[in-house]
Amino acid sequence: MKAILLAGGKGTRLRPLTIHTPKPIVPIFNRPFLHYQLDLLKQVSEIDEVILSLNYQPRRIEEIFGDGGDSGLGIKYVVEPAPLGTAGAVRYAGDQLRESVVVFNGDVLTEVDLAAVIALHRDRRAKATIVLTPVDNPTAYGLVETDADSNIRRFLEKPKPDEITCDTINAGIYVLEPDTFDRIPKDTPWSIERSFFPSLIEQGESFVAYVYRGYWIDIGTPEKYMQVHRDMMDGRFTAYRAAPFAARPSAAWISPEARIEDGAIVEGPCFIDEATIVRPGARIGPYSVVGRHCHIEEHAAIERAIVWANSRVSQEATVRNSILGRHCHIGRNAAVDNGTVLGDKSVLTDYSRL
Ligand code: GDD
Ligand code: MG
Repeated sequence: MKAILLAGGKGTRLRPLTIHTPKPIVPIFNRPFLHYQLDLLKQVSEIDEVILSLNYQPRRIEEIFGDGGDSGLGIKYVVEPAPLGTAGAVRYAGDQLRESVVVFNGDVLTEVDLAAVIALHRDRRAKATIVLTPVDNPTAYGLVETDADSNIRRFLEKPKPDEITCDTINAGIYVLEPDTFDRIPKDTPWSIERSFFPSLIEQGESFVAYVYRGYWIDIGTPEKYMQVHRDMMDGRFTAYRAAPFAARPSAAWISPEARIEDGAIVEGPCFIDEATIVRPGARIGPYSVVGRHCHIEEHAAIERAIVWANSRVSQEATVRNSILGRHCHIGRNAAVDNGTVLGDKSVLTDYSRL
């Protein structure tokens, strides 16, 4: 069985972080995001190949994942000549498929039991099965109404507040039958959410919901990107040994190759990656993530912030509730706060405030 990962979006809501790092490979702690999705797919033994459907900076992604190596999953890359939208991308990547295929939005992190979703799909002989999850505010997602037998009755992408009729949304995980793909026009942008799914409902196809109430998040905004780190540090996402906090939630996770100098203060939960130096008097506070090869200088403070690799936070500077890209330089006594997101190579001069 094959899986298609839709990973071709530009990641506009995560800009400027995604200018040099496409969303599928933004780091979650020290691993590119897609690794976590591949871990989930590996739980299903019959999935033997993952097709990464790309168009934005595909080379960067190929360099990281190669052909899947010894991961047990073959990885194939399909690069659209131009963005074809979520349905166009599925058709483009899956045109040769003849058996059920799993499709995944490339920015969701979840512990859903994928084998159970596939089993339901087969049991119900569905043309499409879609994972739904409850959220407080469906406006940023696809709202999905079902009947008492879990048949999908209505799909409304990005509903307005007065259009909200239930709390279940499209979790971005589907099992599809490829014989439905011929209703997706070839080589034109086409949306799975706005066109393909509504057409299945209109034509009375068997279209089924699997409701999942466990951990689920779309990492596509700075707020959610920060939240996923906090959730993992709190032990809310524990799947797969690779999640650094799975075994020890709330810990201070310090790489053995990091250097925490005498007189530096480190308060968990936090994450400090290899070759990073934390100087005397500096403070790494709870819910901070500091990537590799960073310098946190004397009396600097990092609090509830994420600092990507190779950045420097100079003496007495503070970074709070914010995200710094790679190779940033925060000058002495500077302060970054309130959800600021700085792109790679940003320079903030001494005493500046953001
Ligand atoms: N290959 C390819 N080509 N991939 C694309 C394209 C495209 O033209 N457009 C978007 N994608 C990929 C994105 O990279 C992302 O992984 C996924 O498709 C979904 O796109 P987003 O831009 O993240 O959509 P969204 O988050 O606003 O909404 C979608 O996800 C929600 C759940 O997180 C919808 O599917 C909603 O219905 C859903 O609730
Ligand atoms: Mg998204």
